[in-house]
Amino acid sequence: MSEQQEFVGAIDCGTTSARFLVFNDVAEVIAEAQEEFPQYYPHPGWHEHEPDEIQEVVERCLEEAVRKLEAMGHAAKSIKAIGITNQRETTVAWDRETGKALCKAIVWDDSRTRGVVNTLERRLNEQGIKVHDGKHINSVDDLIALTGTPLSTYFSAVKLTWMIEHYEEVKNAHKEDRLLFGTVDSWLVYNLTGGVKSGIHIIDVTNASRTLLFDIRKLQWSAPLLEFFGFHRSILPKIVSSSEVYAEMVDGPLKGVPIAGIVGDQQAALVGNKCLEPGQAKNTYGTGAFLLWNTGEEVVKSDHGLITTVAYQPGPNSNPIYALEGSISTCGSSIKWLRDSMKLIAKASDMDKLSSSVKDTGGVYFVPAFSGLLAPYWDSSAAGLLIGLSAYTTPEHIARATLEAIAYQTKAVLEAMAQDHGADLDHLAVDGGVTNSNMAMQIQADIGGFEVIRPLMRESTALGSALLAGSAIGLFGWDVTRPETLKRVNTQGNQSFKPKISAEERAKMWAGWNRAVERSKGWEA
Ligand code: G3P
Repeated sequence: MSEQQEFVGAIDCGTTSARFLVFNDVAEVIAEAQEEFPQYYPHPGWHEHEPDEIQEVVERCLEEAVRKLEAMGHAAKSIKAIGITNQRETTVAWDRETGKALCKAIVWDDSRTRGVVNTLERRLNEQGIKVHDGKHINSVDDLIALTGTPLSTYFSAVKLTWMIEHYEEVKNAHKEDRLLFGTVDSWLVYNLTGGVKSGIHIIDVTNASRTLLFDIRKLQWSAPLLEFFGFHRSILPKIVSSSEVYAEMVDGPLKGVPIAGIVGDQQAALVGNKCLEPGQAKNTYGTGAFLLWNTGEEVVKSDHGLITTVAYQPGPNSNPIYALEGSISTCGSSIKWLRDSMKLIAKASDMDKLSSSVKDTGGVYFVPAFSGLLAPYWDSSAAGLLIGLSAYTTPEHIARATLEAIAYQTKAVLEAMAQDHGADLDHLAVDGGVTNSNMAMQIQADIGGFEVIRPLMRESTALGSALLAGSAIGLFGWDVTRPETLKRVNTQGNQSFKPKISAEERAKMWAGWNRAVERSKGWEA
């Protein structure tokens, strides 16, 4: 009878919505629930979330998916473990004494901290940071070598600095040792394990590697960086691996079920795509787009604007696996902007109809630098730009230019990866909401000049955290350190998109994009 079946659950808390998915042993989705949560844009460049709203939405998704599972004749207890995957860098500050958030969370793509970045960079260059044995970090390049990440508005420590400087509540809590800092994984786990009464305060290594406070080789908080930012150690969560039993859920329909996997959403998609060997890469087209290239146990430092990140640590005593990452801040969010702000389309799926009704963009380029440009350009003062407009331009051209922008940004990241790693890409594995668009995928193949392979089951992000949670408790014989144990997982087949335009046409379009990017840069300088 079906009650005997076992499952693994995954909470996937992205930038715009949360979901809960229940997988079986071959990664079929048995039950799921999804809900969007409010986005706050109080000023240009600002982007906030209400931490309580995120928590409430997650809990509602858990309840709804479990209800569906039970309606199918399975017991809630058939879920043996839960993985959590989350939007990374988004910074939450809460009070140890009340368990309440002290302010809205600052979201990863919020660029209000430009001033903080400039001040910190000046201080870094002028005074340096004393590391150990009289050695100093004197430049952003040294900082990248230690943390894997540049000094940018993107990362959590910069956002927390802004909170302490601008919110009296956060400043006082810090002074009085009441402040708890965390990324969204930390906030969810704290609440799911009892909040102020019994909540544990942890962060996994992949999320920690996005804070600018983390030594990516030692897998520890860096004391010199804490001093540089002026943070008390007491605010920091305990660092844990991506796959182990951390604690049990204390409430709700899954009370008593262990939380056994935590991983940032982009790293999760790498695992979910089973890119577990060095040299394997995937691109996730969500709110932003994030291309990760598995470099195995090797820490590869980029000279071309990529991030070095922890991909996952398969257990507390295992060596971490690293990746090179190209982070693109605006992907699906540019389509959302066309829909919600420009009212150019009624629903995201209209993009295909609109953009396929014209044979090209009519010379239009769209650089969607809504919060500056991340990899590989790293220009926080770049401004969004539509160029090449004429009386001939129609919404169809702009829709097509939006899909092309996504593909150009991906190509730019892949070129940087090829320069850093010397490897040539044979094909690109893809997932994320935007991959539902056949047009977007064909345009990606055309502009990239490579084959794009889209799996039929595209829940790779949630699956990645489920695989790590399952591995931690030995469920289904899964073990992420032994890819052969995952052979039966997610084998529903692929769809392929091959380039259809000439190399000459591709080169011409690419040159146009690069000119447009140059124009978008330094707008506020
Ligand atoms: O680094 C930000 C990233 O984790 C956000 O992912 O899927 O919500 O766009 P997503």
